Amino acid sequence: MCGIVGYVGYRDAYPIVIKGLHRLEYRGYDSAGIALLDEELKIYKKAGKVSDLESHVKDIDMVGSLGMGHTRWATHGAPSDRNSHPHQSGNRKLSIIHNGIIENYAVLKETLLAKGHVFMSDTDTEVLIHFVEDIQQETGLDLQDAVRIALNKVVGAYAIVIMSADEPDLLIAARKGSPMVIGVGEGEYFVASDATPIVEYTKNVIYLNDNEIAYIRRNDLLIKNIDNTVQAPYIQRLELQLEMLEKGGFEHFMLKEIYEQPRSIHDCMRGRIYPQEGKVQLGGIKEYTEKLKNIDRIIIVACGTSWHAGLVGEYLIEEYARVPVEVEYASEFRYRNPIISEKDLVIAISQSGETADTMAALELAKEKGATIFGVCNVVGASIPRLTHAGVYTHAGPEIGVASTKAFTAQVTVLTLIAFYTAQQRGTITQSKLVEYLTQLNDIPQLVEKALKANDRIVEIASEFKNSSNCLFLGRGSSFPVALEGALKLKEISYIHAEGYPAAEMKHGPIALIDENMPVVVIATKHSSYEKVISNIQEVKARGGHIIAIVTEGDNDVRAMADYVIEIPETAEPFVPLVATIPLQLLAYHTAVMRGCNVDQPRNLAKSVTVE
Ligand code: G6P
Repeated sequence: MCGIVGYVGYRDAYPIVIKGLHRLEYRGYDSAGIALLDEELKIYKKAGKVSDLESHVKDIDMVGSLGMGHTRWATHGAPSDRNSHPHQSGNRKLSIIHNGIIENYAVLKETLLAKGHVFMSDTDTEVLIHFVEDIQQETGLDLQDAVRIALNKVVGAYAIVIMSADEPDLLIAARKGSPMVIGVGEGEYFVASDATPIVEYTKNVIYLNDNEIAYIRRNDLLIKNIDNTVQAPYIQRLELQLEMLEKGGFEHFMLKEIYEQPRSIHDCMRGRIYPQEGKVQLGGIKEYTEKLKNIDRIIIVACGTSWHAGLVGEYLIEEYARVPVEVEYASEFRYRNPIISEKDLVIAISQSGETADTMAALELAKEKGATIFGVCNVVGASIPRLTHAGVYTHAGPEIGVASTKAFTAQVTVLTLIAFYTAQQRGTITQSKLVEYLTQLNDIPQLVEKALKANDRIVEIASEFKNSSNCLFLGRGSSFPVALEGALKLKEISYIHAEGYPAAEMKHGPIALIDENMPVVVIATKHSSYEKVISNIQEVKARGGHIIAIVTEGDNDVRAMADYVIEIPETAEPFVPLVATIPLQLLAYHTAVMRGCNVDQPRNLAKSVTVE
């Protein structure tokens, strides 16, 4: 949700900033802009993608070794050149980029307008930089103090970087609620929303904490908190490799990430399961084993795809660990005065670890005394730093905006948590655990096999690419898989799609079924198999077209369905991990055939740091 990047040092800032913006484009692509300071402060910005900005400046000599850039996901003010960041103060000396929302901007703007400030955009961000300028003018304070005083009066979330025409060697960066990483080089510093723009220059990073302000010069870094107390920075080593950020021969990041799943699921389980011993080991939550043994209730909070993973987790944890689980949309949970106590365990699931609603839900649960765990992918992100304990998914950077490998990794972690808790609570026998862990260990190979259906899926996608609607049905833990299949299709192909529990279809969606309606049904040979077959018959009787995801060798469903996609046989708890694969490929190929921008679907952003 807006990406920001900045550089101060001895090199030309432009190539670093523009490359950084490409890496951060997953966070928003409504507009892009750059500020450079050489002899004067220059701003270049354009509605559209980072590549549009590049074309816009291609004949300009982009000089300056102090610079910053922004890629925007619009909140306040439509996507346009004038609303693009960077924004400037009235005297044009200060410039700002911002990720987040200044909630009290309207009040501030009113006061500033009354004092004669003139605004060039509709954004909350421009108000903030005018506010800083106003404080400087009123008090005569230097920029550092003026920024600190302004931030003390701001309500909302922000990660900002400020440059001043009068300070050719200074970037001021601050955060509250939106992420910010500082890269520490020799005679140079980098700032960015995540480490991806930084990794090729340095592996030493500092994650700025909430309410901290960094004053960054090429040979000096000073971090203070908002109360003006100096903070000791903690430098960490990045694990990220540059190759992880490239497409590696695939046409799109999404396809690469779909194909990475055998490896990402394997990485997620590595060192955590011991099939022969029937043992699950989760170092990140080990200290809370007693809590898990005695827990009365688990609440899972998440958004989007991560929420779907949470629903799979609910089936698994209730089935094997016999603990009641509630799965909540983080955005709803936080606004409805939920009943939570110290007895509860709240698990936040988040690929980015930065989703604003999920963070706010966690903060609320923490305030009420609950133990909070995180299941996150991005190491060092805000959610893992807020939680008491957690389990990383280790899927590697996910760049395609539509989540794929992060989902299967989340489901894998939740499977591990279910078995770990079951083992601790004695709700699963040792022999069953040995059997299940042995099968779980083989899931990467089964996913590899499921990917072999790709050509068949291309044929099916070409048959249905012009559909306007599509229904996805599943029962049990395949219901969240149906939801996820529908979400993938609508996100990237813009075909309207709904996921439904197969049996609920007759209470409404059945009215939509006619010869134009493709219905994707997850009909693997497990506990609800016979019931799902009845649901298939109900669709067929009304002329709908069935695309069935079936267990390898199933000829019964083949005889009824219009199209079948086979997946390898697996035990019931692992069906979501395998059945998701063909649905991801179906969405991908359909979107490609419809000419959609698969990696950057319209209006979406990968990391939603606004509420
Ligand atoms: C956005 C993304 C989704 C993601 C959701 C939650 O909507 O486009 O892919 O599932 O946010 O994000 P999180 O990082 O918390 O998993």
